Amino acid sequence: MNAPNAPSTRPLNCGDLRAMREKGDKIACLTAYDASFAMLADEAGVDVVLVGDSLGMVLHGRDSTTAVSVGDIVYHSRCVAPMLKRAFLMADLPFLSYATLERALDASQRLMQEGGAKMVKLEGGEEQAAIVEYLSIRGVPVCAHLGLQPQFIHKMGAFKVQGKDAGQAEKMLGDARALVAAGADCLLLECIPSRLAAEIHAAVDVPVIGIGAGPAVDGQILVMHDILGISPMVRHGRTPRFVKPYLVDGRDVAGAFAAYVAEVKSGAYPAAEHSFGTV
Ligand code: KIV
Repeated sequence: MNAPNAPSTRPLNCGDLRAMREKGDKIACLTAYDASFAMLADEAGVDVVLVGDSLGMVLHGRDSTTAVSVGDIVYHSRCVAPMLKRAFLMADLPFLSYATLERALDASQRLMQEGGAKMVKLEGGEEQAAIVEYLSIRGVPVCAHLGLQPQFIHKMGAFKVQGKDAGQAEKMLGDARALVAAGADCLLLECIPSRLAAEIHAAVDVPVIGIGAGPAVDGQILVMHDILGISPMVRHGRTPRFVKPYLVDGRDVAGAFAAYVAEVKSGAYPAAEHSFGTV
């Protein structure tokens, strides 16, 4: 039996993530794409492992995520899933794989049945509500990714902070409400002002995970290669503001993951220097 306050060693589920939000326990999330790093993340107490389409950039060396296929995500999810004794596995629906209801359902089926994912993540606002509902009523847990949406890079032109003006902020708040009403079990907010993230958090009742969204959310996620300082983006001097290096002070990879988890849990990460504005 676990000690009263020790993290459970059974596999986490959607309900556990909701309970963490309700109790105010921070949710530590990290990407991983292979068995060894997934094992280390699980052992370090990471709550949610994401097989993200960021693998297009950190594993395949592309300059965006748009070339990633459903097969790529399935392949890497299959490498990760068997190593997770406790962590919850989320997997990305890649670019255009959810352009229609049928495609979204087929891709989600592959991610869950072949890949072992327990939740799929898709990018987009209220426009995706019909897809979220279609998946959700068929038993597919969905995380809706708002704010900076890397799959839209060819329309946006550059990766930049979203929701800075009042109109954009109002739209994002409406998007969040609509996606949760459609059945989204989780929201992920990328690269938005901390105050807007706090407003979105207050407006919904599902777990809200942030990356560059400040401290007033339920959990944090970062790309594993970024916190280890080995991604092309970091090595080429384009480190985003919200990335903090953890492979420092003589730590090994396991130690870096453990330090990240401890800082997310205690609220030490993100600090003001990793966020856009104050709450
Ligand atoms: O693909 C990914 O790794 C992501 C994170 C940046 C949240 O979506």
